[in-house]
Amino acid sequence: MKKLVVYVTRKLPDDSIQRLKSQFEVKMWPMENEAIPRDVLLEEVQKADALITMLSDQIDRQILNHASNVKVIANLAVGFDNIDVHYATEKGIAICNTPDVLTDTTADLTFGLLMATARRIVEADQYIKKGQWRGWSPLLLAGQDIHHKTIGIVGMGKIGEVVAKRATGFDMEILYHNRSRNMNAEIKLGAQYCSFEELISTSDFVVCLTPLTSQTKELFNKAVFKQMKRSAIFINAARGAVVNEADLYEALLSGEIAGAGLDVFEVEPIGAEHPLLTLPNVVALPHIGSSSFDTRMNMIDLCCRNIMHVLTGEAPETIVNKEWLLKHMKHL
Ligand code: DGY
Repeated sequence: MKKLVVYVTRKLPDDSIQRLKSQFEVKMWPMENEAIPRDVLLEEVQKADALITMLSDQIDRQILNHASNVKVIANLAVGFDNIDVHYATEKGIAICNTPDVLTDTTADLTFGLLMATARRIVEADQYIKKGQWRGWSPLLLAGQDIHHKTIGIVGMGKIGEVVAKRATGFDMEILYHNRSRNMNAEIKLGAQYCSFEELISTSDFVVCLTPLTSQTKELFNKAVFKQMKRSAIFINAARGAVVNEADLYEALLSGEIAGAGLDVFEVEPIGAEHPLLTLPNVVALPHIGSSSFDTRMNMIDLCCRNIMHVLTGEAPETIVNKEWLLKHMKHL
C-alpha cells in the first residue's frame, strides 16, 4: 500500500523525524535557513497528507485550497497567526501547535532580553570588543535597575506566567493585563491584574507576550508609547505586528521611552538597514524565543507525534481548532 506523505517545509535533522519516517513517506524542503518558496509549497501541498510548517510559512486560503488530501498541519510554534485556522477548520484540517514544551525556554529568553536591554549588555559587549574601553568611569554604560521595579506583562498566558515567576526572583512588582484573569499568577506569584492603560503608564518594563490577532494588531502605537514612562523599556517576544514599528522608532528616537528589546519584527527577516536597528537603545534578536537545542527538538517531536496521531485516527496531543476534535473524535 502506498505510504501517506508528510511534507516538512524546512530542513530538520534526520534523527528528529525518525518516528515519522518509520511509518510515512517524509519529504522535506532541503534548506535550513531559507523559507520554502511559495510556488514550491503550492506544488508540494497538493501531494501531501500532512504538513509540518514553520511560522514563516503563510498557510492561507490559496495554500489550503491546494491541500485537498491534507488532514493535519503541525506548526512548529506555539503561535499560529500564520495559518488561516478558520478556513482550515472548514476544510476539515486539524491544526496543531507546540505549547508547553517551549514555555520555560521562551520565558528565559524574554527575561534575558529584558536584562540585556536594561543593563545595556549588548552595547557594552560591542564597546569592549571595538577597543573603546579606556578605563573605569562612574557612569560608564550606566543602565537601569531591574530589581524592585515594576514589570507589566501584556498577555498573561503560560509564557507570561513563567516570565512573572522569573520576575519574583528580582523582587519586582508584577502587573498584568489579559483577556481573562490568571488566578494562578495572582495567588502564587502576587501578580496584580490591571487595565491596559494603567499597566502601560505605571510599568518600568512593558513586556508584550500577547498573540497576534485582529484585536492586538498594532496594539502598541504612538498613543500607547506616549503614555509610557520616559524611563520605560518595551520588550516584545510575541509577534512584530502587535507593534506599529514606525511609532516605536519615533518613541525611541524622541526619548518618549528609554529602550526596547525586540525578538520579533513585523516582516521577518529584517535587514541591517531596518530603522530600529540603527538605534543604540534597541536590542534586537532574530526571533529565537524558543531556540534552545532541547526545546526545538521537543517541539519537532511534538509535531511528529501530532501528525502520527491524526494520520492513525487518534486525537492529537495539542490542537488549535478544538472544533475539529469535536467533529472528528466523537468517541472521545
Ligand atoms: C512561537 O513558538 O510562536 C514563538 O514565537 C517561537 O519563538
